[in-house]
Amino acid sequence: MKILVINGPNINMLGTREPEIYGKTTLEDINKELVEYSKTLGDIEFDFFQSNHEGEIVDKIQASKGYDGLIINPAAYTHTSIAIADAIKSLELKAIEVHLSNPQQREDYRKISYTASACVGVIAGFGKESYKLALLGLINKINE
Ligand code: DQA
Repeated sequence: MKILVINGPNINMLGTREPEIYGKTTLEDINKELVEYSKTLGDIEFDFFQSNHEGEIVDKIQASKGYDGLIINPAAYTHTSIAIADAIKSLELKAIEVHLSNPQQREDYRKISYTASACVGVIAGFGKESYKLALLGLINKINE
């Protein structure tokens, strides 16, 4: 199984960015932990992509032919990007939205997700564990 993991703006700053909200683990370590965890689930191949630019994320989604699933943390674009939502909807593959924090417990402007409607599910609020839970959920959806 081939899974693409996309992280949006400022996720490259994890470790030092608002650690009281997002934790102290870097994105690189989150990705390593996800690879380790995936070994308990089967033979899974990953590609990891992070960008601070909306258009680059759209380009990457459009180029995702050949993957079985997408895990995406669109970060702040969650709350603004019809373009990313449309790109996900244009794909055959299943996508799951993931957040470290629980946007529903935060500022009102974070309570709207444009991208969630393009995804089969959303996992939010479990810190770095959100990515592992998302992988588990995504594999279940792919194997349905
Ligand atoms: C986030 C939540 C977003 O509201 C925020 O803009 C982020 C991170 C999360 O993972 O909790 O950058 O997607």
